[in-house]
Amino acid sequence: MYDLLGNILTINFRLNGEPCEAVAVAPTKTVLEYLRDDQGLKGTKEGCAEGDCGACSVVLVRNGTDQRVAVNSCLLAVGQLDGAELTTVEGLSERNGELESVQQAIVNEDGTQCGFCTPGFVMALHALRHSEETVSEEIIHDALAGNLCRCTGYRSIVDAARAACTVAVQGTTPRADHETSEAHEVGGQKFFAPKTLAQLVALRAAYPDAPLLSGGTDLGLSFSKGREHFPTTIFTQNVVEMRHIEDRPDSLTIGAAATYTESLPFIEAAWPSFATLVRRIGSRQIRNVGTIGGNIGNASPIGDTPPCLIALDATLQLQGPNGPREIVLEDYFLDYRKTDLAADEVIAAVQVPKLDESQVFRTYKISKRYDQDISAVIGAFRLTIENDVVREARIAFGGMAATPKRAAACEVALIGKTWTEETARKAGTLIAEDFAPIDDHRASAAYRVRVASNLFVRLFRDLAGQDVTEVVTL
Ligand SMILES: Cc1cc2nc3c(=O)[nH]c(=O)nc-3n(C[C@H](O)[C@H](O)[C@H](O)COP(=O)(O)OP(=O)(O)OC[C@H]3O[C@@H](n4cnc5c(N)ncnc54)[C@H](O)[C@@H]3O)c2cc1C
Ligand code: FES
Ligand code: FES
Repeated sequence: MYDLLGNILTINFRLNGEPCEAVAVAPTKTVLEYLRDDQGLKGTKEGCAEGDCGACSVVLVRNGTDQRVAVNSCLLAVGQLDGAELTTVEGLSERNGELESVQQAIVNEDGTQCGFCTPGFVMALHALRHSEETVSEEIIHDALAGNLCRCTGYRSIVDAARAACTVAVQGTTPRADHETSEAHEVGGQKFFAPKTLAQLVALRAAYPDAPLLSGGTDLGLSFSKGREHFPTTIFTQNVVEMRHIEDRPDSLTIGAAATYTESLPFIEAAWPSFATLVRRIGSRQIRNVGTIGGNIGNASPIGDTPPCLIALDATLQLQGPNGPREIVLEDYFLDYRKTDLAADEVIAAVQVPKLDESQVFRTYKISKRYDQDISAVIGAFRLTIENDVVREARIAFGGMAATPKRAAACEVALIGKTWTEETARKAGTLIAEDFAPIDDHRASAAYRVRVASNLFVRLFRDLAGQDVTEVVTL
């Protein structure tokens, strides 16, 4: 019924329980604009238009899944809706004429003043209420970390969350399993949504200048803030092979289009410290669509996962017209936002070896806020320690150079030494030999060097089960 090239096809999904066709809508129009301008659904608000405030939160059951997740509609392209189930705040109360439990709890707890942020909070909590998580205080705060309120204050909103979300919801969410199209074209703008890696690679070769769109939490800013409409966009999240996560005894392979939320339980099981970091990437709204593939593809020097993956000795699986190619991640980043990826290749997956019994892994993110903040510095450490002696060290930093990079001098200073606080401290003092970071609005160069050095002492104390909150001065 659908072919890959040139057909003008509509984007089909369900909106608030009803079938919906986005006809003649530019596929990279944001879902927020589409809802407000084309559908007249003005309950979904625009605050920042860059994924930070949560006012635009809607709930999505992505195609091929059965989980309701909160996402930022300001960063989502309409093309990403094909085959999905979308719920907006208008879709909650209209079903039976009563307020949905979260809405009622917000009313009961006086959780709203001007009301601008309220629909976003309601949608974030609606998703939480329908998740399979055991809701705790920590989970409530995590679920709300992507929503800002500037007048009510958070206590009453958290009270409402406690009241509404700790009660189990009956019934399961039906799987969104609608047929999707592989190509859309509106007003000369092409949007491809291939379903197989072979199709994706063929499109990549045919349109080498077209951006690859995964979750859109980076690229979506071009549509949202930048008002940029690329002539051709290639969406990767329908590619079956790239959604796959393979958990083997000795390694974890994460498909480039698997979301952070989908990967998190596997990461938690293998490297709890890495999982703590992943939970600090943006907010749930970001992690519900954002991917490690996109984090690597973006090639930012302050991306959170590349330093961890380099320290863990990960290998990238690339796919191009001549077949698959593997490259160790450490060799992939060449210079500022310059990588080894050829114009006709895509990142298919990242394979990460698990730790053996003598290895430990820790990562630390330094940012101004705990949640929803970009790193000033990120340090990741994998040490192999046998009989208290450091046999191998793989240490990588982000925010310290034009690319995520290993700390070679610090590693050499550790290898063969007895693992003591003094050894860690001395290795940390060599940071300035490995890196010459820059001053920018996130941190000064001097701060970056100081904090990166201090992380070595923190690592020692953390591994020793000691207090890591004490101020360390080298
Ligand atoms: C509010 C907010 C908070 C954020 N917080 C953090 C944070 O704390 N830490 C952090 O590291 N990042 C953060 N980010 C950035 C972003 O969420 C991450 O980089 C995320 O991993 C991007 O994944 P994505 O799937 O959304 O990528 P997309 O936006 O879809 O793509 C990103 C880039 O990767 C390329 N790409 C995508 N898939 C592939 C592929 N298969 N092969 C080759 N190239 C590909 C795209 O062309 C694009 O250039 C934040 C973003 C926002 C908006
Ligand atoms: S409008 Fe602020 S997150 Fe979308
Ligand atoms: S109620 Fe006014 S911004 Fe939250």
